[in-house]
Amino acid sequence: MTDLEAIELRQSRRGYLGTPIPIESIKQLQTSIEQYNKTSGLSIQWIEDGRAAFQGFSMGYGMFSGVRSYLALVGKTTDVNLKEKAGYYGELLVLEATKLGLGTCWVGGTFNRNQCPAKVREDETLISLIIIGNVAEKKGFKENAIYKLAHRGTKSLVELYTSETQVPDWFSEGMKAVQKAPSAINQQPVQFTYRDGFVTAEVKHTDNHQPIDLGIAKLHFEIGAGGKFELGNKASFKKIN
Ligand SMILES: Cc1cc2nc3c(=O)[nH]c(=O)nc-3n(C[C@H](O)[C@H](O)[C@H](O)COP(=O)(O)O)c2cc1C
Repeated sequence: MTDLEAIELRQSRRGYLGTPIPIESIKQLQTSIEQYNKTSGLSIQWIEDGRAAFQGFSMGYGMFSGVRSYLALVGKTTDVNLKEKAGYYGELLVLEATKLGLGTCWVGGTFNRNQCPAKVREDETLISLIIIGNVAEKKGFKENAIYKLAHRGTKSLVELYTSETQVPDWFSEGMKAVQKAPSAINQQPVQFTYRDGFVTAEVKHTDNHQPIDLGIAKLHFEIGAGGKFELGNKASFKKIN
C-alpha cells in the first residue's frame, strides 16, 4: 500500500477489539519510532497496555471501547515546533499503522492524563495520544454513531486554500490529500496559499491544538504534491521533481 492509498483508506476508529497486535507489526512501528525520535528530538513512546487512561465514567472517556495500546507523543516543552512535529511524525506513524491493517485515532483531550503510563519528564509535555489497535473491518452501530457526531462536514477544496490564479495539478493533488487529513474536531484549520509557484501553510492560533493539525496537514500535502515543507507557521514548501 502506498502513502496515498493509506491516506485514502484511513478514518478515525473508536471501537477496538482489544486483541494483541502482531509482534512483527509492533516491532516495525518501534523501529520507526526510534528513527523519528532521533530525527525530530521528540520522545514518542509505544504504550503496550495503557487501558487505565481510558477507563472512567466521563462521557468523553466512554467514546472509545476496547483501547489497549497507543503512542504517547512527548517532547521538550521549550521546543518551539513541538506541536507541529508531534503532528507530522505522529501522522507518519498513523499512515504506517494503517498500512499494517490497524485502526488508529488521535486523542488530544478525551483521556485521563493522570492514568497514562507515559514517561513525561519535568522539562517535557505530553501533546497527544494516538490509539493503535485491531479493529473490525466495518464500524459497528455505536462506533458509527460516534463517528458521525465527531465528523460533521468536511470542507471543500476551495475552502482550504487561497490563490489568485489557477493552481497547477500537483497543488490540487496536495490539497486533496490535505482534505483527508485528521484534525481536532474535524475543524480543518490549516489554510494553504498558492502564489507564483510558491506554497505556504498557516494556522490562526498557535496556543491550542492547531499547530498539531498544521504538522498533519503539511505531511499530507507533501505526500500528495511531492516535496518538502520547512518547519513553522507560514513556512514555505519546496516542490521536488
Ligand atoms: C490533534 C487531534 C486531536 C484529536 N482528539 C480527539 C479526541 O480527543 N477524541 C476523539 O474522539 N477524536 C479526536 N480526534 C479525531 C478527530 O475527531 C478526527 O480526526 C476528525 O473528526 C476527522 O475524522 P477522520 O480522522 O475520520 O478523518 C483528534 C484529531 C486530532 C488531529
